[in-house]
This record gives sequence, C-alpha cells and structure tokens, in this order.
Amino acid sequence: MSANVYPVSEETAKGALIDKAKYDAMYKQSVEDPEGFWGEHGKRIDWIKPFTKVKNVSYDPHNLYIKWYEDGTLNVSANCLDRHLATRGDQTAIIFEGDDPSVSEHITYKDLHERVSRFANALKTMGVNKGDRVVIYLPMIPAAAVSMLACARIGAIHSIVFGGFSPEALAGRIEDCGAKVVITADEGLRGGRGVALKRNADEALSHPGVKSVEKLVVVKHTGKDIPWNDARDVWYQDICDAASPDCPPTEVNAEDPLFVLYTSGSTGKPKGVLHTSGGYLVYASMTHQYVFDYHDGDVYWCTADVGWVTGHSYIVYGPLANGATTLMFEGVPSYPDASRFWKVCEKHKVNIFYTAPTAIRALMREGAEWVEKADLSSLRILGSVGEPINPEAWEWYHEHVGKRKCPIVDTWWQTETGGILITPLPGATDLKPGSATLPFFGVEPALLDHEGNELEGATEGSLVIKYSWPGQMRTVYGDHERFIQTYFSTFAGVYTTGDGARRDEDGYYWITGRVDDVINVSGHRMGTAEVESALVAHPKVAEAAVVGVPHDIKGQGIYAYVTLNADEEPSDELRGELVKWVRKEIGPIASPDYIQWSPGLPKTRSGKIMRRILRKIAANEYDQLGDTSTLADPGVVDDLIDNRQNR
Ligand code: WT7
Repeated sequence: MSANVYPVSEETAKGALIDKAKYDAMYKQSVEDPEGFWGEHGKRIDWIKPFTKVKNVSYDPHNLYIKWYEDGTLNVSANCLDRHLATRGDQTAIIFEGDDPSVSEHITYKDLHERVSRFANALKTMGVNKGDRVVIYLPMIPAAAVSMLACARIGAIHSIVFGGFSPEALAGRIEDCGAKVVITADEGLRGGRGVALKRNADEALSHPGVKSVEKLVVVKHTGKDIPWNDARDVWYQDICDAASPDCPPTEVNAEDPLFVLYTSGSTGKPKGVLHTSGGYLVYASMTHQYVFDYHDGDVYWCTADVGWVTGHSYIVYGPLANGATTLMFEGVPSYPDASRFWKVCEKHKVNIFYTAPTAIRALMREGAEWVEKADLSSLRILGSVGEPINPEAWEWYHEHVGKRKCPIVDTWWQTETGGILITPLPGATDLKPGSATLPFFGVEPALLDHEGNELEGATEGSLVIKYSWPGQMRTVYGDHERFIQTYFSTFAGVYTTGDGARRDEDGYYWITGRVDDVINVSGHRMGTAEVESALVAHPKVAEAAVVGVPHDIKGQGIYAYVTLNADEEPSDELRGELVKWVRKEIGPIASPDYIQWSPGLPKTRSGKIMRRILRKIAANEYDQLGDTSTLADPGVVDDLIDNRQNR
C-alpha cells in the first residue's frame, strides 16, 4: 500500500463548496438525523407536489421495501431542462465531441429542451405511455441523452443497452423488460470504425423470444446503407421534425421507475436494476455537485458510456439537474492517437475530468509525452471510477494530468447504489492513493466477518451499508425475490455490496475487490456464470469454468477452463472459434483472454467446482493452493498446473 498522503491544499479548500469542518458537521447531521438531513436536501430538486414523508424503508426479507419522498411528485426531465430555461437557456448543456476530432457541437439548454420535447411527443404518437419500457441501443451521441430525457418526460422507463453488447445480449434484455420501442442508430463510430448497431438490432428483434417491440427508431448517424423494414422502422429525424416542440412534462410519483439497467451478478442472467425518480435524482445531483465540487460555469467531462450507470448518473441526470455543462465523447482514448483525451480537455477547456483506472493505465503505458502535447491548465478536479485504482496509476494521473494541483476523487459505488457512496470531497478529504477514503453524507458503511459480526477499528471484511440512501435501487425488474436474495440475505438487516474492503486507522476505506463470482474487466462487470453459460452453449464444449486473472491494463482479465466433448480435439483454431463465439453471445468485453483445455476440473465430492484453486492456477500462484484433499480427484490439479496458459 502506498503510504503517501496528499493533504487538501489551501487553495482547493478555499474555493470548495465543502471544507473539512463542513464535511464533519454535515456528515454528523446526516447520520444522526437522516430524516431531517434528507428532508432538507430533497428540496434541491423541483417537486410538482412537495413530499411530506422522507423515508420509509424496511430491510426485513419477508417484507422488504425502499421508499423515499413517497408522496412527492415531479418530472425528472423538467428538473434537467425546464427549470433552467429562465436562468441558463442559452448556456451549453451538452458539448458533443465526435469520434472524428473535427466534429463537435454545443447544445444549449433551450435547444436540448426542444429536442427532448419533440422526441417525447413522437414517442407518445407511437403509443408509448407512462410505465412502458423503451430500450436504447445507441452510440455516445446527443440523441442518447435526448432519448433518456424524452422517456423521463413522459414517464416511460428506459433501459439502455451498451452499444458493445451483442444481438443475443440485446435480445435478452428487450425480452426481459418487454420493451415496446427500441431506439438505435444506423451505425456507431469508434476509433474510425463503424459499429453495426442497426444490423445488431435487426438480429435481436428477429429473436423468437422478442415479441413486444412495435417500433424501431433509427438515428441517422454515419449515413451507412442499412436494411429497412417499412412496417416497423422509423427515422428519428423524421418523427422529431414532424412532432410538436411543446410537450408538457408528465407528473410522476417519486417512486415511479425512471430506468432499468442490466448488470451482471454472480449467478444467472443479468439483473434489471430498477431506479426510481425522486430519490435517485436528489442523490445523483447532490453527489455530482459535492463530489466534483461543481461550480456554475464549470465544464465537466465524464468519459463513461451512457450504457453504464456512470453515464446515467454522471453524464446525464446529475449534471443536467445541476444546470451543468456536460461533455459527451463518442470516441476512444487512443484515436487518432494517445493524446486524444488531453486534446479534448484542451479544446473544450475542461475543468473536471472523470475517467476509469483502465484508461489511465493504458495511457500511462503510452508515455507521459502524450499528455504534455496538450494544455491542461483548465483542469481543477480529477476523478476515478469502476475499479480500485492502483497507487502507481494514481500517482501518474496526479503528476502528469493533474500537475500535482488537482485532487483526485476515487469514487466507489455500483449500478445498484445509483450514485457515489464512498469518496473524497475535494475541499475536505486528505487523499491516499488507492483509497476511496470516506463515506458520502448519509452513508454508513460497515465491515462484517463471515458470521455477520460487525468489525470495529482498522480491519478487513465484507463491505455492507447499514441504512438506505435515496439513490438506492428499489428492486430487480420483475423479480423482487431475487433482489432480496442477492442483497439482503447474506447478512441480515444491511445492504450487502459484494465487495470486500479494508479500513485503516484513519477510518479510510480501501476496496479490495469482489468477494463473489463477479469479475471486473476494464471497470465492466462480468458474471463468470454468464461467460460459462456462453461457452457451454457451444456444441463442442462439455463444461467450462471461468475465473478472473490479474491483468496489467484491464485490472482483471477472463481466464476460461474448458472441457471439450469426448470426441473433440483441442486446437488453436478451436480456441479462436470459442473466443469469437463468446463475443457473439455476449459482446467483445466478455472475450476470454486465456482458454485452457482442461480434461477435468477440480470438484468437491458433491460436484462443486473449486474456483479458489482455478483462480490460483490462473494467477500463477499454484504453490499456494491450500487444501486440495477434499477434491473428488486431486490428480486433475497437476494437469491444470502443467498446462496453465498465463506463464
Ligand atoms: C463494482 C460495481 C460504479 C460505477 C461503475 C461500475 C467496483 C467501482 C470502484 C472504486 C474500487 C470500484 C466494485 C463495485 N468499483 N468503483 N472506486 N474502487 N472498486 O459499476 O458495473 O455496477 O460495478 O465496481 O467492485 O462493486 P458496476
């Protein structure tokens, strides 16, 4: 562990919204009087009918519910648009920076309001009503934000599917949520290459399980020739042009759903994480303001994709609710070259920059000279999210990007949490590279041992959150029992995060990674079970076991042990075929980095695969396998060690 401590500089503290004294006082109030605290801060957004109740939560597994501001009504898009029109209608809401560095666009609040209103009316014309589901499968272009806000405007529930997911994965999500409309583009663009989104969407919609979709809306983006189904497909631009620019926002209840976002767990298919309207928006906007010390006029850039929760909370909803200028970047950090991120910061005078450790590591490998090519003097705050940031990457980010004057906020949270839970605040928290530091207001983390006993002081254990916060997910879409099982059954009375953490003598949290069978590849969550079921769906595969393996750039890579059917011969060609197969079943982010042919897998006598052993072998730590005597056939272990791939 790095022993360096970076105290808050006087200059940062002076201009910051929250300094040390204020953090201490607000944190104290937030945990001693959560009702009072969240009642007061709930007023940061505009309510149509103000709430009178603040919190109503039960973590009892027999009767589990989470409600915040439950008698209030609002409209999320009106909070992100209409309420800013009088004061900042002509201010830029979204800066779009294309994949092609010569393409960018500034969209004002007034303009965004009109685009959203038109598309919301178009959706209504297509028969989309309050509570209906709309799947968004778009690249990082303004139409993605417009689509989200248009759904919010009419009370429809959006579910964004990351553009890198395969037709199979898209079909599964459309089927699970029963979407009436799907929104896509002719093509996406990444690093100068087209991504066949419309073709993928066509394939997904032809899937036998997908029966709910009535219309496919297509944004013309690259202009590529695409197949067309006259009965089903409509051009986004045409229906927006035809629609009225006047669309009064639909009044929704605080607890009406805003969106569903699928995420991987340790077992089964991805879960539809459901977030509602009022509490989510209060929490996303409040964390955006305080964690990034957002001041009026700042240009803020989060490099995530709207296909992930980071894009929901910290590209669209949080920033726009705060009247911020938020940058949407379509491209990749390496195109046209490794200076792209920094050139974009220079071009748009970015003040706050929020990215993932995997990007930092990849750029660090290219060398600091790429950073020196750009003028980064506008930067004030840096952020990190998605996985633990290793101290080397932190120090590099701090020195070369932040020039030793920008604090780095290492923000720990999850799709389920809706917003940041453990994080430094720039003006209040002394930094330790690699630590997400301290809880945000209202958040009470605890570390538990295996029996569920709370551990005190400097210690290590399972990270849980003791009480609810407004941004918490409310259920798994269509499967409340799974919600209870996944998050509230391991330990009683708390929210189980699935992460392990260490707490040091200063009370700082250091996330150590997942304690379940979830792996984190470049900040993207992947269930090992999902990759396994993709592999065994291949006709030549009998069995598969997948584990995470340390990876220099991605954080974790995917290591698959594959047992072929008895009559199949292993070959490099088949290896390539399996990688392609997994990409087709799930998407490129699930591509195995290693495939090891395994005539047998280490199993207990009851048939349970001992992943602990497989993880050690994959990581080349086979001298620390621990007890293998309980295995049904201890002999398989030697074969696995002899044939390991990651030497
Ligand atoms: C998992 C959640 C949070 C939005 C992006 C990922 C890991 C996330 C950090 C961090 C250490 C982190 C955790 C968590 N994680 N941020 N700052 N330090 N680990 O959302 O896909 O839901 O993944 O990402 O393991 O449980 P997600």
